[in-house]
Amino acid sequence: MQITADDGRIVALQGDITRLDVDVIVNAANGSLLGGSGVDGAIHRAAGRELYEECRTLGGCLTGDAKMTQGYRLPAANIIHTVGPVWRGGHDGEDVLLASCYSKSLALAAGVSASTIAFPAISCGVYRFPVLQATQLAISTVRRWQASHDAPHTVFFCCFTSEVWAAYEQLLA
Ligand code: APR
Repeated sequence: MQITADDGRIVALQGDITRLDVDVIVNAANGSLLGGSGVDGAIHRAAGRELYEECRTLGGCLTGDAKMTQGYRLPAANIIHTVGPVWRGGHDGEDVLLASCYSKSLALAAGVSASTIAFPAISCGVYRFPVLQATQLAISTVRRWQASHDAPHTVFFCCFTSEVWAAYEQLLA
């Protein structure tokens, strides 16, 4: 199932991000960039050992920042690894940091002229960010980017849980 916004530049869909045939997928990583659980674990398993080897050369990543690697065994040519904020109640800059994850990832994707990019629900798992708030931020940050940039043309929000899917369904319908 999927929902496409009127202008065709935002699509929400259900599924496993490692299987999507897009130019770039985004990983919800941690500061070490050396793998973890959740979507991070799934991406490292699917991409293979070479991804870990490249990540070891990157020197980690700050919260709110993003770094790019090759996609290795994934259909996607590149992976952008971003580090979302841990939810600490909302008074610790979480909104700004999460928005930064989306905008920095979009800028990196534009830098390789990506036409399509897929995001997981950054910070909505282990990092406990409230799902509806994160979803609103994701959509508004992407819309702000798209208002002044042609690339990436289409942004996919890949929903793995029914809660995340319900939030996108509510906001995009
Ligand atoms: N495809 C798409 N989304 C997925 C997949 C997948 N294969 N697997 C999990 N998800 C979803 C989760 O259900 C959640 O909605 O990704 C969202 C983000 O959850 P996490 O992966 O837990 O990421 P996050 O909350 O940002 O926490 C990051 O978790 O795995 C570790 O190394 C990572 O320490 C870091 C932390």
